[in-house]
Amino acid sequence: MCGIIGYCGHRPAVPVLVEGLRRLEYRGYDSAGVGFLHTDGLKVIKAKGKLCELDKKLAQENVFNATSGIGHTRWATHGEPNEPNAHPHVDHTGRLAMIHNGIIENYQEIKKELLAEGVTFKSETDTEVLLNLISKYLQEEGEMLPALSRALNRVEGAYAIAVFDAQNPGVVHAARVSSPLVLGVGTGENFLASDIPAFLPYTRDVVFLEDGELVRIDASSWQVMRVRDLSPVEKKVDTITWDVQAAQKGGHKHFMIKEIFEQPKVIQDCLCGRLATDLDEVRLPELDCLEGAPKRIHIVACGTSFHAGLWGMYLLEQWARIPVQVEIASEFRYRDPILDPDTLIIAISQSGETADTLAGIKLAKQQGLKVLGLCNVVGSSVARESDYVVYTQAGPEISVASTKAMCSQLTALLLLTLHWGSKTGKLDPKIHRDTLHGLRSLPELLEKTLPALRDRAFELAREYSDADSFLYLGRGLYYPLALEGALKLKEISYIHAEGYAAGEMKHGPIALIDPKFPSFAIALDDDLFPKVKSNLVEVQARSGEIIALTNVGLDLEVDHRWDVPRASGPLATFLALPALQLFAYEVADYLGKDVDQPRNLAKSVTVE
Ligand code: M6R
Repeated sequence: MCGIIGYCGHRPAVPVLVEGLRRLEYRGYDSAGVGFLHTDGLKVIKAKGKLCELDKKLAQENVFNATSGIGHTRWATHGEPNEPNAHPHVDHTGRLAMIHNGIIENYQEIKKELLAEGVTFKSETDTEVLLNLISKYLQEEGEMLPALSRALNRVEGAYAIAVFDAQNPGVVHAARVSSPLVLGVGTGENFLASDIPAFLPYTRDVVFLEDGELVRIDASSWQVMRVRDLSPVEKKVDTITWDVQAAQKGGHKHFMIKEIFEQPKVIQDCLCGRLATDLDEVRLPELDCLEGAPKRIHIVACGTSFHAGLWGMYLLEQWARIPVQVEIASEFRYRDPILDPDTLIIAISQSGETADTLAGIKLAKQQGLKVLGLCNVVGSSVARESDYVVYTQAGPEISVASTKAMCSQLTALLLLTLHWGSKTGKLDPKIHRDTLHGLRSLPELLEKTLPALRDRAFELAREYSDADSFLYLGRGLYYPLALEGALKLKEISYIHAEGYAAGEMKHGPIALIDPKFPSFAIALDDDLFPKVKSNLVEVQARSGEIIALTNVGLDLEVDHRWDVPRASGPLATFLALPALQLFAYEVADYLGKDVDQPRNLAKSVTVE
């Protein structure tokens, strides 16, 4: 989704803005632009495409005088991705420039009103409409704060905006509802951005802004107030502990491959402080105020986080004997669900900013339910909106395709299962003990296994990168993995892929099988292995080619065996998952795709 940055300080603003936008590139975008005060007035420079296109335009200008301004990377919602629709937009008087992330739902009604008053528009965007409404109120009120408050109280939808006024160039105003916005507090400089990495080289001190808050920054001060009535809000300054290094590629070709290889550490970090040294207990002090285990669980999430939730359902029901329902957040929020008051909602989100998941949380809270956020980004909206938070501790995930975040979500779900399984008394103590033991050695096992997994993924990718479609098959715990394998392949290689429960294949998708339609099976050593094997025979009977992730010694004849080391019970998931990720990665890289920023996708989906 769009990335926004604002700066007021002592440095040349334009390079700060452009570098900040570069660190927000992972969010996905199709055009970019900056706005600042030039010697001859308000200057806005925009370009369609990647930041290098903007760089070319900026190289022809003298941009070093301005010490404040705003910058934006746009992920198109209203109007095609072209230069007129790119941000910043300028109001019809030429005085204000504004950037926006989100969607203004009632923009058409406001546009009609402004058109009738003679305002002309240069773009098809909802942003330009909101900006001209602010401009109209600025003329009426004479001051920016009441103008902003009036305009924002009128609009419906989601936004994070930043406004730059050429008549007051050392100041930037910004506000948010349901789109991320953080304030970076520096010395003699202040920043606004959609995400912390944008300003991390300059400051680690941040203020998380809440929905309905408005902020004014200049070089030496900042104030937060409520949009509603401009009343002041007291805010706490937090200090970020991770650094820029953690958000860079570290010698890898792409963030995605770096992040796949970080998974051993991710497991370790997620376990850190949560396993008692005597190995007998999982400690989750975050949940101390929850008495016992929940009676029922409803998991709400999107994309990869939804797949993690589905995996959690299998495990929580089997081991902790807690009834679990898992639902895609965009369905949950509009379904008018009947929720039992004993139900604990678990909202899973890497970014913590996914609009649908946040709406799911709000809905559950309106019905008086408690929400546990399983989330990676500290201080994110999911973390703040939830009653309890278990951080997954994966560190910043930059690649749009989520990899290490899922690994951390699965680790956290496994810990929750062990924790609640002991509380319900339903989990066999031996399984509990063996799993904890296995978890301790899992990072090392994975570390050793990853290079070989990559080599095999590389070989298979060359063989199958010309496929038009893939079917991913798995059962039980590996059904969610089949869904995830298919999602990874389609999102970064643009090869069509479907994930199916292997036993469901005969109810339709089997019609697709032919020698040109390969299947990728997850056929690991568990109780369901004989069933999966029979399903694969059905594929072979239709001359379908098969790649199978399996274990040494298992009796399985397929076109391409991919033997992964054994691990006990659900821990085998942690070896299968990177194999799926690496296969998708190697195919996409071989095909020369933009692995870290696939087309049409955004890292953080802050619109519905
Ligand atoms: O940040 P979240 O976990 O809430 O994001 C959910 C999905 O948007 C995300 O997992 C998406 O499906 C990824 N591109 C998958 O790789």
